[in-house]
Amino acid sequence: MVSSVTRFVFGLSSIAVLAPVSHARSFPRQVGFTVPSDIPSSWTYQGCYIDVGRTLTGGGYDDVIGMTDESCVAYCSNLGYHYAGTEYFHECYCGDTLAVGGVPASASDCSTPCSGDPTQPCGGGNRLTLFWDGQVPPVVNPGEDGWNSIGCYSEGTTGRALAYQYLTPDDTLMTVDICTTACIANEYNFAGLEYGDECWCGNDIENGGAPILDSTGCDMLCPGNASENCGAALQLEMYQFGGTGTSTTSSSTTTPSATPTPTPASDPAFPNVGTYSYLGCQTEGTLTRALSAYMTAYDSMTLESCSVDCTGYTYFGTEYGRECYCGNSFSAGSVPAPQDECTYPCAGNDAEICGAGLRLSVYSTTVPVDPPAAPTPSNPAVVGAYEYYSCMTEGANSRALQGYSTAYDSMTLESCAADCAGFEYCESLFGTEYSRECYCGNSFAAGSVPAPESECQNTNFLCMGDVLEFCGGSKILSVYQLAPTKISH
Ligand SMILES: *[C@@H]1O[C@H](CO)[C@@H](O)[C@H](O)[C@H]1NC(C)=O
Repeated sequence: MVSSVTRFVFGLSSIAVLAPVSHARSFPRQVGFTVPSDIPSSWTYQGCYIDVGRTLTGGGYDDVIGMTDESCVAYCSNLGYHYAGTEYFHECYCGDTLAVGGVPASASDCSTPCSGDPTQPCGGGNRLTLFWDGQVPPVVNPGEDGWNSIGCYSEGTTGRALAYQYLTPDDTLMTVDICTTACIANEYNFAGLEYGDECWCGNDIENGGAPILDSTGCDMLCPGNASENCGAALQLEMYQFGGTGTSTTSSSTTTPSATPTPTPASDPAFPNVGTYSYLGCQTEGTLTRALSAYMTAYDSMTLESCSVDCTGYTYFGTEYGRECYCGNSFSAGSVPAPQDECTYPCAGNDAEICGAGLRLSVYSTTVPVDPPAAPTPSNPAVVGAYEYYSCMTEGANSRALQGYSTAYDSMTLESCAADCAGFEYCESLFGTEYSRECYCGNSFAAGSVPAPESECQNTNFLCMGDVLEFCGGSKILSVYQLAPTKISH
């Protein structure tokens, strides 16, 4: 099973180094990692975090020979990022924020040693060993004084999305508040910040300007306030005066096709997927993923692909259209949700439902795995040099086998065979009786006749030394004879 998440691998050499490991579950669990202490003083270790298919989106690098936690922190720190995370032996990622779903995972998930120092943890499959410089990452200003953030928008394709630019006396002081204040003062009800220091105003979003759903856009800092975002190249951090806080576009814009479209509440069109069947819509756990054993995310997500990703787990759940989670149990706080809360089409097949925000469409295995059959006792066909002969009665007035005999509590067919084949005795027949008795001989006494096999399969007379073997019965012998080729012994 290979995750479809695009890996950040540079060159074939790294693939060769990694083979054959391809999945989080197959990593050896390593203990005793030491998180290095000689990182820049403002940076601290945060723990092991889920990589949702880029929790840190600021880029990174790959080093199959020399990756360490310190080198990754140094790299991201030099680029001005607030987070650094190592992953999967040799990958380093940087970012200023953690993507949705990039939440703490079990420390033991970060089990891949760093390529440059195997005493250090370098994440795992879809897991980041995470460091933070202690600085609050920039945020999207939610809007003030009647303005509301409506998200990151692309510039228009046939002209400006917002028609009027506000030229400030000093654009190095630009903030969201300066721009929105200027737009409303000029009676415009949309305001957008672009490329850090540009402020645009208008009464419609025009010319094809549209929401960018990918949360990685609009990440340039405002020159007048490095704690908030002011758009990016050809991307507007958009505000609406009196807006509801949800995306709004004028009639001249088009809704991007990627927008998850809620569908009417109904049972899923696909009650069965592979060996799984639909369980229901389920909430996430409290401060933890509902299904936490494994996760992956990709744009070709379908119920079928997630079921394959989760092969071997009792449950799989899809969420937010493109996320897939696996587990054998639900974490605390995860409870059934109304069916109509799971509404997002799967990114790879819009006929299927793949959960919603913080809602999982959960399937469970329909075919319970049978516990391994309990071993049952038997009279094995071959014991040492002997083969099974028959179930036999004792003699009429004497023991059926009149050679050497012994009895002990550790009796097994093997030990009795050894007793009868011993140097001094070397008898061609042995029989066990009454769980702990062993008789040897070369012939049967008068009156000893075959008994029904069922009488030598009496669970009251298992061998005392091996409960998976029968040792005769009451006045009944499980008899073995030396194999024909060995009879000249
Ligand atoms: C800077 O931006 C943050 C986030 O939007 C905001 O909370 C804070 O008030 C701003 N500071 C100033 C001085 O504008």
